[in-house]
Amino acid sequence: MKVIEYKAEFQKELQNLANKNKKIGFVPTMGALHKGHISLIQKSSSENDITVVSIFVNPTQFNDKNDLKNYPRFIDKDIELLKNKGCDFVFTPSVKEIYPEQDDRIFDFGDLDKVMEGKHRQGHFNGVAQVVSKLFDIVKPNIAYFGKKDFQQYVIIKKMVNMLNMPIQIKACPIVRENDGLAMSSRNILLTAEQRKNASFISNTLFKARNLTNQFSVKELKDWVINTINANPFLNVEYFDIVDDVELKSINDWQKKNNKVGCIAVKVGKNRLIDNVNFNL
Ligand code: PAF
Repeated sequence: MKVIEYKAEFQKELQNLANKNKKIGFVPTMGALHKGHISLIQKSSSENDITVVSIFVNPTQFNDKNDLKNYPRFIDKDIELLKNKGCDFVFTPSVKEIYPEQDDRIFDFGDLDKVMEGKHRQGHFNGVAQVVSKLFDIVKPNIAYFGKKDFQQYVIIKKMVNMLNMPIQIKACPIVRENDGLAMSSRNILLTAEQRKNASFISNTLFKARNLTNQFSVKELKDWVINTINANPFLNVEYFDIVDDVELKSINDWQKKNNKVGCIAVKVGKNRLIDNVNFNL
């Protein structure tokens, strides 16, 4: 496994591999790696000749300076963890390396980035698109892997690749959960012990809600989820919506044919956790 900081060196290596027709899988990350990331790497390694992982905390996707400052960074531990997991290259660029000049691009994703995360984190998805498009330009992967926990991100990146005519397949991999159901996230380690214990109430409420679709209308179920979670003094729901998995439009009728995904963001103290489950009947 090679760790590379500079894009010129990295691109030379990748060009050599592309010349040999090697299939490249790519897992972009912001580090603080956990089993969710490892599952993406293993999937990539099973489907490609070469797997590239990037570790880069992208400043342009943080709408809150404190969130960027407090984002967990464990680069040495991450590199150690990646050994023997199927990763061939780790790309660890500096901010200057990715943004030699300010990136002023504005992406138009229609309504996809106006709802849920996009509504509550202004500019977040534009920053994600800036960095992912740059990383895709550098790595030129055949397939890129994203976790379903960031469901809206996955939908928007698929749209971006389509808009930019990038010949890259985007794959979403299942959410990996802790034993108590909490979706794995780099942010989980920022929780206090008490917050961590209560955080599993989010996924457990979503799992319960899935069994209530024949008792409640969509609106009633949305309210039930929000009220149930808010009754826990450690948790404060920012939004919960059940949307279709293509246009991310709110669903108001269980009979709609679309795949239905219930997406939630919850404040746990100063931290913010997201999760989602399918509501397909
Ligand atoms: O999901 C993440 O970790 C980030 O948003 C990504 C895709 C690596 C872009 O910075």
